[in-house]
Amino acid sequence: MDIKSVAITAVKKAGKILLELSKSNIRYEKKNKFDILAEGDLKSERIIIDLIKKSFPTHSILSEEKGEENNESEYFWIIDPVDGTINFSRKINEYCVSVAVEHEGELVLGVIYQPVLDRLYVAERGKGAFLNGKKLLVSNESKLINMLLSTDNTSSITGRAKNFGILARTCNKVRHIRVFGSSALHLAKIASGNLDIHFKSRFNYWDYAAGIMLVKEAGGKVTDFEGRDITKSSENVVVSNGKIHKEILDILND
Ligand code: IPD
Ligand code: CA
Ligand code: CA
Repeated sequence: MDIKSVAITAVKKAGKILLELSKSNIRYEKKNKFDILAEGDLKSERIIIDLIKKSFPTHSILSEEKGEENNESEYFWIIDPVDGTINFSRKINEYCVSVAVEHEGELVLGVIYQPVLDRLYVAERGKGAFLNGKKLLVSNESKLINMLLSTDNTSSITGRAKNFGILARTCNKVRHIRVFGSSALHLAKIASGNLDIHFKSRFNYWDYAAGIMLVKEAGGKVTDFEGRDITKSSENVVVSNGKIHKEILDILND
Protein backbone atom coordinates (compact mmCIF):
# COMPACT_ATOMS: atom_id res chain seq x y z
CA MET A 1 0.00 0.00 0.00
CA ASP A 2 1.17 3.54 -0.67
CA ILE A 3 1.19 6.33 1.93
CA LYS A 4 -2.22 7.69 0.98
CA SER A 5 -3.90 4.26 1.10
CA VAL A 6 -2.35 3.52 4.50
CA ALA A 7 -3.54 6.87 5.87
CA ILE A 8 -7.09 6.35 4.56
CA THR A 9 -7.26 2.76 5.78
CA ALA A 10 -5.98 3.88 9.19
CA VAL A 11 -8.46 6.74 9.75
CA LYS A 12 -11.39 4.59 8.59
CA LYS A 13 -10.42 1.66 10.80
CA ALA A 14 -9.91 3.99 13.77
CA GLY A 15 -13.21 5.76 13.07
CA LYS A 16 -15.07 2.45 13.05
CA ILE A 17 -13.73 1.61 16.51
CA LEU A 18 -14.74 5.08 17.78
CA LEU A 19 -18.28 4.53 16.51
CA GLU A 20 -18.39 1.16 18.26
CA LEU A 21 -17.13 2.66 21.51
CA SER A 22 -19.65 5.48 21.31
CA LYS A 23 -22.52 2.97 21.52
CA SER A 24 -21.77 2.39 25.21
CA ASN A 25 -20.66 4.59 28.08
CA ILE A 26 -17.47 6.36 27.05
CA ARG A 27 -14.61 5.46 29.38
CA TYR A 28 -12.11 8.18 30.14
CA GLU A 29 -9.73 9.50 32.77
CA LYS A 30 -8.78 13.09 33.54
CA LYS A 31 -5.55 14.41 32.01
CA ASN A 32 -5.95 17.50 34.17
CA LYS A 33 -8.80 19.67 35.45
CA PHE A 34 -9.74 20.79 31.94
CA ASP A 35 -8.86 17.84 29.71
CA ILE A 36 -9.54 14.12 29.40
CA LEU A 37 -8.02 11.00 27.89
CA ALA A 38 -10.64 8.59 26.54
CA GLU A 39 -10.25 4.90 25.85
CA GLY A 40 -10.99 5.86 22.23
CA ASP A 41 -7.89 8.10 22.04
CA LEU A 42 -5.62 5.17 22.90
CA LYS A 43 -7.41 2.55 20.79
CA SER A 44 -7.51 4.82 17.75
CA GLU A 45 -3.84 5.73 18.16
CA ARG A 46 -2.81 2.06 18.47
CA ILE A 47 -4.65 1.13 15.24
CA ILE A 48 -3.15 4.00 13.26
CA ILE A 49 0.42 3.56 14.47
CA ASP A 50 0.34 -0.23 13.97
CA LEU A 51 -0.81 0.21 10.36
CA ILE A 52 1.85 2.82 9.61
CA LYS A 53 4.59 0.71 11.15
CA LYS A 54 3.53 -2.38 9.22
CA SER A 55 4.02 -0.59 5.89
CA PHE A 56 6.66 1.98 6.81
CA PRO A 57 8.67 0.84 9.84
CA THR A 58 11.37 3.50 9.40
CA HIS A 59 9.12 6.57 9.14
CA SER A 60 9.08 9.17 11.95
CA ILE A 61 5.82 9.72 13.83
CA LEU A 62 4.35 12.42 16.06
CA SER A 63 1.14 11.36 17.76
CA GLU A 64 -0.73 13.30 20.45
CA GLU A 65 -0.84 10.65 23.16
CA LYS A 66 2.40 8.73 22.44
CA GLY A 67 4.58 11.71 21.60
CA GLU A 68 7.31 11.77 18.97
CA GLU A 69 9.35 8.92 17.55
CA ASN A 70 12.09 10.48 15.47
CA ASN A 71 13.71 7.92 13.16
CA GLU A 72 15.52 10.55 11.05
CA SER A 73 13.26 9.55 8.16
CA GLU A 74 12.39 11.91 5.30
CA TYR A 75 8.76 10.99 6.03
CA PHE A 76 7.03 12.32 9.14
CA TRP A 77 3.48 11.33 10.16
CA ILE A 78 1.42 13.64 12.37
CA ILE A 79 -1.51 11.99 14.12
CA ASP A 80 -4.41 13.17 16.23
CA PRO A 81 -6.19 9.91 17.07
CA VAL A 82 -9.34 11.76 18.17
CA ASP A 83 -9.68 15.48 17.60
CA GLY A 84 -12.63 16.63 19.68
CA THR A 85 -12.32 14.10 22.50
CA ILE A 86 -14.61 16.13 24.74
CA ASN A 87 -17.30 16.03 22.03
CA PHE A 88 -16.71 12.28 21.58
CA SER A 89 -17.10 11.75 25.33
CA ARG A 90 -20.41 13.65 25.31
CA LYS A 91 -21.70 11.98 22.14
CA ILE A 92 -21.59 15.18 20.12
CA ASN A 93 -20.88 14.44 16.44
CA GLU A 94 -18.03 16.94 16.03
CA TYR A 95 -15.02 14.68 16.42
CA CYS A 96 -12.69 13.11 13.91
CA VAL A 97 -9.46 11.24 13.26
CA SER A 98 -6.71 13.33 11.71
CA VAL A 99 -3.54 12.10 9.96
CA ALA A 100 -1.01 14.13 7.97
CA VAL A 101 2.31 13.34 6.32
CA GLU A 102 5.31 15.57 5.68
CA HIS A 103 8.01 14.72 3.15
CA GLU A 104 11.34 16.46 3.73
CA GLY A 105 9.67 19.01 6.00
CA GLU A 106 6.73 19.84 3.71
CA LEU A 107 3.15 18.70 4.16
CA VAL A 108 2.21 16.37 1.31
CA LEU A 109 -0.94 14.66 2.61
CA GLY A 110 -3.81 15.44 4.97
CA VAL A 111 -6.61 13.00 5.78
CA ILE A 112 -9.49 13.70 8.17
CA TYR A 113 -12.31 11.26 8.90
CA GLN A 114 -15.54 12.18 10.73
CA PRO A 115 -16.98 8.76 11.50
CA VAL A 116 -20.51 9.71 12.55
CA LEU A 117 -21.19 11.32 9.17
CA ASP A 118 -18.88 8.99 7.20
CA ARG A 119 -17.03 12.04 5.87
CA LEU A 120 -13.58 11.39 4.47
CA TYR A 121 -11.52 14.48 3.64
CA VAL A 122 -8.36 13.91 1.61
CA ALA A 123 -5.86 16.48 0.34
CA GLU A 124 -2.60 15.81 -1.47
CA ARG A 125 -0.04 18.48 -2.24
CA GLY A 126 -0.72 19.91 -5.70
CA LYS A 127 -3.68 17.61 -6.32
CA GLY A 128 -6.57 19.37 -4.56
CA ALA A 129 -8.77 18.66 -1.56
CA PHE A 130 -11.76 16.31 -1.64
CA LEU A 131 -14.68 15.28 0.56
CA ASN A 132 -15.80 11.74 -0.25
CA GLY A 133 -14.30 12.24 -3.72
CA LYS A 134 -15.92 15.64 -4.38
CA LYS A 135 -13.55 18.56 -4.96
CA LEU A 136 -13.52 21.23 -2.26
CA LEU A 137 -13.10 24.97 -2.61
CA VAL A 138 -12.96 27.65 0.07
CA SER A 139 -15.72 30.27 0.12
CA ASN A 140 -15.64 33.22 -2.24
CA GLU A 141 -16.59 35.75 0.45
CA SER A 142 -14.37 38.80 0.52
CA LYS A 143 -16.19 41.13 2.94
CA LEU A 144 -15.28 40.65 6.59
CA ILE A 145 -18.76 41.62 7.76
CA ASN A 146 -20.26 38.71 5.77
CA MET A 147 -17.83 36.16 7.18
CA LEU A 148 -18.30 33.37 9.74
CA LEU A 149 -15.47 33.38 12.25
CA SER A 150 -14.50 30.37 14.35
CA THR A 151 -12.20 29.78 17.27
CA ASP A 152 -11.82 27.16 19.94
CA ASN A 153 -11.29 26.38 23.54
CA THR A 154 -8.04 25.04 24.87
CA SER A 155 -7.26 23.27 28.13
CA SER A 156 -4.79 26.10 28.87
CA ILE A 157 -6.73 28.70 30.81
CA THR A 158 -4.46 31.56 29.75
CA GLY A 159 -4.95 30.37 26.14
CA ARG A 160 -8.72 30.33 26.64
CA ALA A 161 -8.72 33.85 28.02
CA LYS A 162 -6.59 35.06 25.09
CA ASN A 163 -8.85 33.45 22.47
CA PHE A 164 -12.04 34.77 23.96
CA GLY A 165 -10.45 38.19 24.54
CA ILE A 166 -9.71 38.38 20.82
CA LEU A 167 -13.22 37.17 20.10
CA ALA A 168 -14.75 39.87 22.27
CA ARG A 169 -12.84 42.52 20.27
CA THR A 170 -13.66 41.08 16.84
CA CYS A 171 -17.17 39.67 17.21
CA ASN A 172 -18.88 42.82 15.96
CA LYS A 173 -16.82 42.85 12.75
CA VAL A 174 -18.15 39.58 11.33
CA ARG A 175 -21.61 38.17 10.69
CA HIS A 176 -21.39 35.44 13.33
CA ILE A 177 -19.17 33.21 15.47
CA ARG A 178 -18.95 29.42 15.59
CA VAL A 179 -17.09 27.28 18.19
CA PHE A 180 -17.46 23.58 17.34
CA GLY A 181 -14.74 21.97 19.50
CA SER A 182 -12.60 20.23 16.88
CA SER A 183 -9.77 22.19 15.29
CA ALA A 184 -9.43 19.70 12.44
CA LEU A 185 -13.14 19.90 11.59
CA HIS A 186 -13.09 23.70 11.74
CA LEU A 187 -10.43 23.60 9.02
CA ALA A 188 -12.36 20.98 7.05
CA LYS A 189 -15.31 23.41 7.14
CA ILE A 190 -13.14 26.25 5.85
CA ALA A 191 -11.87 23.99 3.05
CA SER A 192 -15.50 23.17 2.24
CA GLY A 193 -16.57 26.84 2.13
CA ASN A 194 -18.85 26.55 5.20
CA LEU A 195 -16.72 28.80 7.44
CA ASP A 196 -14.42 31.66 6.42
CA ILE A 197 -12.01 32.24 9.31
CA HIS A 198 -10.49 30.28 12.19
CA PHE A 199 -7.97 31.53 14.71
CA LYS A 200 -6.43 30.08 17.81
CA SER A 201 -3.86 31.26 20.27
CA ARG A 202 -2.07 28.10 21.56
CA PHE A 203 -1.10 25.62 18.90
CA ASN A 204 -0.43 21.89 18.70
CA TYR A 205 0.67 20.64 15.31
CA TRP A 206 -1.38 17.42 15.53
CA ASP A 207 -4.63 19.44 15.83
CA TYR A 208 -3.93 21.27 12.56
CA ALA A 209 -1.49 19.47 10.23
CA ALA A 210 -4.06 17.56 8.13
CA GLY A 211 -6.48 20.52 8.13
CA ILE A 212 -3.75 22.86 6.88
CA MET A 213 -3.18 20.59 3.86
CA LEU A 214 -6.94 20.59 3.19
CA VAL A 215 -7.34 24.36 3.41
CA LYS A 216 -4.28 25.10 1.27
CA GLU A 217 -5.37 22.64 -1.42
CA ALA A 218 -8.89 24.13 -1.36
CA GLY A 219 -7.41 27.59 -2.08
CA GLY A 220 -7.23 29.06 1.43
CA LYS A 221 -4.40 30.52 3.50
CA VAL A 222 -2.84 29.47 6.82
CA THR A 223 -0.30 31.49 8.82
CA ASP A 224 0.50 32.40 12.39
CA PHE A 225 -0.66 35.75 13.82
CA GLU A 226 2.47 37.39 12.34
CA GLY A 227 1.71 36.12 8.84
CA ARG A 228 4.49 33.50 8.92
CA ASP A 229 4.12 29.96 7.58
CA ILE A 230 3.08 27.41 10.19
CA THR A 231 5.70 25.04 11.55
CA LYS A 232 5.57 22.26 14.12
CA SER A 233 6.51 24.79 16.80
CA SER A 234 4.19 27.69 15.88
CA GLU A 235 2.38 29.27 18.83
CA ASN A 236 -0.85 30.35 17.18
CA VAL A 237 -2.69 29.99 13.91
CA VAL A 238 -4.96 31.95 11.57
CA VAL A 239 -6.81 30.19 8.77
CA SER A 240 -8.94 31.90 6.14
CA ASN A 241 -10.35 31.58 2.66
CA GLY A 242 -7.39 33.73 1.62
CA LYS A 243 -9.40 36.66 0.22
CA ILE A 244 -8.51 39.21 2.93
CA HIS A 245 -6.00 37.35 5.09
CA LYS A 246 -3.89 40.46 5.80
CA GLU A 247 -6.94 42.44 6.92
CA ILE A 248 -7.90 39.58 9.23
CA LEU A 249 -4.41 39.46 10.75
CA ASP A 250 -4.55 43.23 11.40
CA ILE A 251 -7.89 42.92 13.18
CA LEU A 252 -6.84 39.93 15.29
CA ASN A 253 -3.64 41.72 16.31
CA ASP A 254 -5.32 45.08 16.92
C1 IPD B 1 -8.82 19.67 21.05
C2 IPD B 1 -9.72 20.15 19.94
C3 IPD B 1 -10.31 21.47 20.29
C4 IPD B 1 -9.22 22.47 20.62
C5 IPD B 1 -8.37 21.95 21.76
C6 IPD B 1 -7.76 20.65 21.36
P1 IPD B 1 -8.38 17.08 21.42
O1 IPD B 1 -8.17 18.50 20.66
O2 IPD B 1 -9.03 20.31 18.73
O3 IPD B 1 -11.03 21.96 19.19
O4 IPD B 1 -9.76 23.67 20.93
O5 IPD B 1 -7.37 22.87 22.06
O6 IPD B 1 -6.97 20.18 22.42
O7 IPD B 1 -7.84 17.23 22.80
O8 IPD B 1 -9.83 16.79 21.38
O9 IPD B 1 -7.56 16.21 20.54
CA1 CA C 1 -6.70 17.63 18.95
CA1 CA D 1 -6.68 14.27 20.38
